Amino acid sequence: MSETARIILNGQEHEFPVVTGSENEKAIDISKLRGSTGYITLDPGFKNTGSTQSGITYLDGENGILRYRGYAIEDLAEKASFMEVAYLLIYGDLPNEKELSYFNDSITHHTLVHENMKRFFDAFPLRAHPMGMLSSMVASLSTFYPESQNPNRDITDIDLTIHRLVAKIPTLAAQAYKHNMGLPTMYPKNNLSYVGNFMHMMWGVPAEDYVVDPIIESALNKLFILHADHEQNCSTSTVRIVGSSQANLYSSISAGVSALWGPLHGGANQAVIEMLETIRAEGTPLQSWIDRAKDKSDSFRLMGFGHRVYKNFDPRARIIKKAADDVLAQLGVDDPVLDIAKQLEEVALNDEYFVQRGLYPNVDFYSGIIYRALGIPTDMFTVMFALGRLPGWIGQWKEMSENREPIGRPRQVFTGSPARDYADIKNR
Ligand code: SDX
Repeated sequence: MSETARIILNGQEHEFPVVTGSENEKAIDISKLRGSTGYITLDPGFKNTGSTQSGITYLDGENGILRYRGYAIEDLAEKASFMEVAYLLIYGDLPNEKELSYFNDSITHHTLVHENMKRFFDAFPLRAHPMGMLSSMVASLSTFYPESQNPNRDITDIDLTIHRLVAKIPTLAAQAYKHNMGLPTMYPKNNLSYVGNFMHMMWGVPAEDYVVDPIIESALNKLFILHADHEQNCSTSTVRIVGSSQANLYSSISAGVSALWGPLHGGANQAVIEMLETIRAEGTPLQSWIDRAKDKSDSFRLMGFGHRVYKNFDPRARIIKKAADDVLAQLGVDDPVLDIAKQLEEVALNDEYFVQRGLYPNVDFYSGIIYRALGIPTDMFTVMFALGRLPGWIGQWKEMSENREPIGRPRQVFTGSPARDYADIKNR
């Protein structure tokens, strides 16, 4: 007997089916609610609302579980390459050797961007925020590849568009960095790995052959994997809803880049470092910052703490915290901000306010410390998040598209003025 939910409205009982997921998550299917009752639900921020059924990523916020297509994040971060994980998220399974070789080869041979795009960078002001440049450049890819605008979404066009985007986004990200540093653009090199090529385009200079440091390559590979997907978060939901209008992939991903930029979302990794540097500069006791974060009259929040889903530890934060220790030790970097972060975590996790609300360090709390140790400027941190998140966004967009999901169009409860007549300006 399938489970149902009953709602009584104006004395009338209405029954709705319950959907059960493969991990036994339950949802009340209200797709017929308005038609049968005239009522809608109201749920600002969609804290209790599922927008779709997805087979890509599973989160268990209470137990700190994160799996991509069934594979535990701990295993993937330790054993997989970012390209394997990208393939897994986009196509549904880990690739065999032949599939991975084809995927790597295709990506490698699409890393160049049209020379005209370099002129776009020349037009950006110096110190333009790289996220503003990245979202603009990703959207403009659709103008160079009009076949991507095909609403019928021919599968070959889609795959080519996906490979082009995976291939070109590191090139565009590195160009944004070089623009702001006033340094010459470095062209991709086909004999390097995806991560190694990004490092070459970021830190290489024409005068010498860049040597990929395996410690940094391994750290970035792990960080990209940890950021690769996270079910229906703000930016992924943005990508899906933009794509639901049959907008092309480039435009949908550009919208996701913009949503990620916000300091409550992916922009938190930049905000965390800025917060830690302020704490270090002011030298005030950590408890005073904790007290400010608890004070409702104070807009200060402990950036990098709290999560919509994880009300226990964020498994990614645990992995990144250890990676931060390892990478800084391997690179011989002694960053006082890391010590402050650990002390702040200690103080917060012994404070009833944080414990009671399940406010633990999230993925953004420690990632900025590694990026800093790798020599990445703070305003590039969220670009790094976007590079990692790209395959997740693509996989989610592809799933939405293949399932022919309806255009996203939420309803509302109107609270504005009742009908009124137009008044001539002299009588207002
Ligand atoms: C990411 O969704 C995802 O999956 C996102 C992400 C991904 O991989 O895509 O995991 C990446 O975005 C991680 C989150 C990065 N953001 C930050 O670190 C910014 C700081 N954190 C918050 O602003 C907040 O915790 C959110 C935005 C992350 C979650 O906010 P919610 O779920 O809307 O929770 P809320 O704002 O309703 O907070 C619940 C309570 C409130 O207090 P009360 O009203 O119960 O008294 O907790 C308090 C909040 O005031 N609170 C905080 C806090 N976060 C929540 N208080 C102080 N400092 C904080 N950081």
